[in-house]
Amino acid sequence: METTYRIMTTLLYQPPVVLPRLHARPGAEVAIRNARVGDVPRLYEIINYYAARGDMLPKTMDQLYNRVRNFRVAEADGEVVGCAALHITWADLAEVVSVAVHPDFQGRGLGRLLIEPLFDEARALGIPTLFTLTLQVGFFSRLGFREVPKLRLPHKIWQDCTTCFKQDRCDEIAMVREV
Ligand SMILES: CC(C)(COP(=O)(O)OP(=O)(O)OC[C@H]1O[C@@H](n2cnc3c(N)ncnc32)[C@H](O)[C@@H]1OP(=O)(O)O)[C@@H](O)C(=O)NCCC(=O)NCCS
Repeated sequence: METTYRIMTTLLYQPPVVLPRLHARPGAEVAIRNARVGDVPRLYEIINYYAARGDMLPKTMDQLYNRVRNFRVAEADGEVVGCAALHITWADLAEVVSVAVHPDFQGRGLGRLLIEPLFDEARALGIPTLFTLTLQVGFFSRLGFREVPKLRLPHKIWQDCTTCFKQDRCDEIAMVREV
């Protein structure tokens, strides 16, 4: 089943399954900023590298350009090394998606640095609750999210599932956090 998923992902999204080679030094200082359209090719590489491994859902270039204003990136030595996005779902709910940090920069707090500002952003927008669908339960727990039954989330969130290969064999875990 996993093999089928990977083949389907590769055929339809033609993702770059090779890890982007960085010029940024692993010890370089990192800044968090809003994404720009010029970042999209690197977002595509990082997200789809992990998607091809089954760690997260793939994104097309089209989706990334459409949603680039939702993204924050981590930049080191002028290069994007991580990302996270906040998608507004409804009046009282937004989703934390596409959280990815290049392996050379993991374990340095970048995931936290990318996500924590999204709490303030949600608050400023008047959105009380964030959710995520993830396999990284430990990471999101450290950021204050808690597991909930998937069906507790509103139907609106399942629209992405119509184009997802996992569909009714979804292994992702629903987590929520009040902000
Ligand atoms: C998940 C991911 C974004 C974490 O990024 P990171 O920069 O390494 O995470 P951080 O260093 O900011 O870790 C933040 C906290 O989470 C903890 N944490 C990180 N990964 C964890 C894991 N897999 N299990 C348990 N805890 C974890 C850290 O120990 C840290 O705890 P602390 O701040 O309380 O000491 C990164 O591993 C990644 O890109 N994974 C592949 C893509 C993916 O699976 N994304 C999630 C899609 S929903």
